[in-house]
Amino acid sequence: MNKTFSNPDPWKYFASEYEQIKYKRQIDVIKDRKPNPERILELVSAEGAQTLLLAKQFSYTKITGIEISPNAFRIAQENLKGHRGRIELVNADMMEHEPRIEENTYDVCIWSESVYYIGARLTFNDTYEFLKKMVGKLRAGGLLVMANTVDLSKDLPEWIVTERPLINCYYNFLSSLITPALKSIYIEQKLGRIYEYQIWAFQR
Ligand SMILES: C[S@@+](CC[C@H](N)C(=O)[O-])C[C@H]1O[C@@H](n2cnc3c(N)ncnc32)[C@H](O)[C@@H]1O
Repeated sequence: MNKTFSNPDPWKYFASEYEQIKYKRQIDVIKDRKPNPERILELVSAEGAQTLLLAKQFSYTKITGIEISPNAFRIAQENLKGHRGRIELVNADMMEHEPRIEENTYDVCIWSESVYYIGARLTFNDTYEFLKKMVGKLRAGGLLVMANTVDLSKDLPEWIVTERPLINCYYNFLSSLITPALKSIYIEQKLGRIYEYQIWAFQR
């Protein structure tokens, strides 16, 4: 994954309107349902594109971002240096780092475009247990927001982890752990290709 970030912004998170709109939609969900979060946990912050928007929108919120790639982490630190003090970036594998994330603490957990990597590494049972642990990081009433791509085209390397039955499975796992509050489906173009993604929200 670190190799992916040897060239900056590999997925065009900063440059693409598609990605910026996807971030905005997730932030709008937070604004509607948790307008004044004290603490946000961002599972996989990459180079900080989403973190930066969160920091600007929620100007008093303490944000913790976790990212496995040292290259992405370094770039995120640079991108977020204007918000030092209330942004904590952790360079770690979220699966290893999980026991150090405080329970019953976060008003919002934003976890986008990366639950796939958990399912690709863990058994079915362990994936469910990991989701349960992450839900437990939210305070009562806390909000989990996710964007997940569905059915990537088969010529793209990550298609296999985005197949619809798998994505449905994450949704069903989560729905049994935390109350579903929103599921929106978008089919849009990025760089000449059509993608489907879903934005989900769950409330603890
Ligand atoms: C497709 S990007 C999504 C980034 C961000 N959430 C967004 O929507 O802009 C996936 C990110 O997950 C990170 N990642 C993958 N597995 C991880 C893990 N186990 N722990 C932390 N980060 C991980 C990758 O390095 C990459 O930055």
